[in-house]
This record gives sequence, C-alpha cells and structure tokens, in this order.
Amino acid sequence: MQGRMLERVCMGLFFTGAVLGANAGEDRYAEYTEESRKISQEFMQQLAGTLKQQLESAGTESAISICKEVAPALARQYSVDGRIVRRVSLKPRNQSMGRPSLEEKAVLDDFDERQRAGSPAAAMEHAAAYQDAQGRWFHYMKAIPTQPLCLQCHGKQQDISASVRALLAKEYPADQAVGYGLGEIRGAISIRTPLK
Ligand code: HEC
Repeated sequence: MQGRMLERVCMGLFFTGAVLGANAGEDRYAEYTEESRKISQEFMQQLAGTLKQQLESAGTESAISICKEVAPALARQYSVDGRIVRRVSLKPRNQSMGRPSLEEKAVLDDFDERQRAGSPAAAMEHAAAYQDAQGRWFHYMKAIPTQPLCLQCHGKQQDISASVRALLAKEYPADQAVGYGLGEIRGAISIRTPLK
C-alpha cells in the first residue's frame, strides 16, 4: 500500500487545514478535504434522517428495506463526476458494496485500534492522495460510530429482535454486521475524487 501512496496527506486526529497546507504546498488538498467533509456530512444526515423517520413511523423491520434501497441510492447519487462514494466496513452487511479495498481496510484497522485505545470515533478521519491504474485520487474517509438506535440492527444477539434477525438472515445471508457495542466503529464513509 505504501508504494502506491503518492503522498500521505495526514491522518486522523492530527488532521488540520494547516497540516495539509504545509505539506508540499498542496493547498488544494484543503479544498478536496472540505468538499469531501461536506459530502460525507450531507450523505450521513440524509441517511440518518430517513432511517429515523422510518424507524419511528413503521418500525425496525420495514426500516431494513429502506436501508437496503436508500443507502445504495444515495451512494449512486453522490458518485458523480468520476467521484466514488461508498460505505465500507471490516464486517460488512452488504457483501457486494460494503467490502473495503486494501487502502480502506488499513484505515479501518487504524480507526478501530485508536477507538479501542480510547479515542472518540466521531472525530476520526483520514485523507491521502494516491495513484492506481485508473489515475490519481484524493481519498477521504470518515469513521461511522454506532449510536443507540443502530444496535437494533447491528448490536449483539440480545439487542436484535427475533423477527429482525430473521429478516436480516433472509436479505443478507452472509451478514457480518452484528455484535457491535455502543460507540464502536460500524464502518466508514469512503470518498475517492479524481485529482485534476
Ligand atoms: C433497520 C435496521 C438498521 C438500522 C437501525 C441501522 N442499520 Fe446499518 N445497515 C442496515 C442494512 C440493511 C444495511 C445494508 C444496506 C445495503 O444493502 O447497502 C446496513 C449497512 C450499514 C453500513 C454499510 C456497510 C455494510 O455493513 O454494508 C453502515 C456503515 C451502517 N449500516 C451503519 C449504521 C449505523 C451507524 C447505524 C445507526 C445510526 C445503522 N447502520 C442503523 C440496517 C440497519
């Protein structure tokens, strides 16, 4: 992975505009970072809003189908102009969309390690520029911690009702996304923007 990195812009808690700007005079990385932060915030707010509404109005079972449709639709909606927006996890539910690349896995491992050492997950982000066969990319990731409401679909056995477990098993036979505790890292939003 290191060999493919053009430049490690910065990482996690030490991530500031000043550091980015100081790095090889690449001020424009600050712009890419701001744009990525905005997209990630909007994406997560829209998804959380829809999810909460559905949970309150129709219950957990019907919210599963909303997640199944709305999350991939939002990812498509934000993946324009060559940009690729995804949600990834070390233990994905959606096996076709949620599996991390090698770069994403390394970042997720690092997020997890820091969370276990006591850092708050909500503040964790990552940004790096790298090159692959498709070209040069700016890559941004932001950790997604669990909140109480997440546990009814991602928690431990006792947190998930029997009917929800049955539905999840039917929709996602290879589901790995259970067993989480509060404040643990469920995954991350990952945004790749082509560098111009
Ligand atoms: C009603 C059940 C339900 C609730 C509540 C729920 N999720 Fe999920 N979650 C799902 C489903 C279903 C998927 C798979 C969606 C898909 O097919 O893309 C998913 C997928 C994800 C993914 C994408 C990676 C993967 O595993 O495929 C993340 C990240 C995630 N959820 C985080 C959360 C967080 C954080 C919360 C709480 C704010 C939450 N979820 C609440 C059902 C739920």
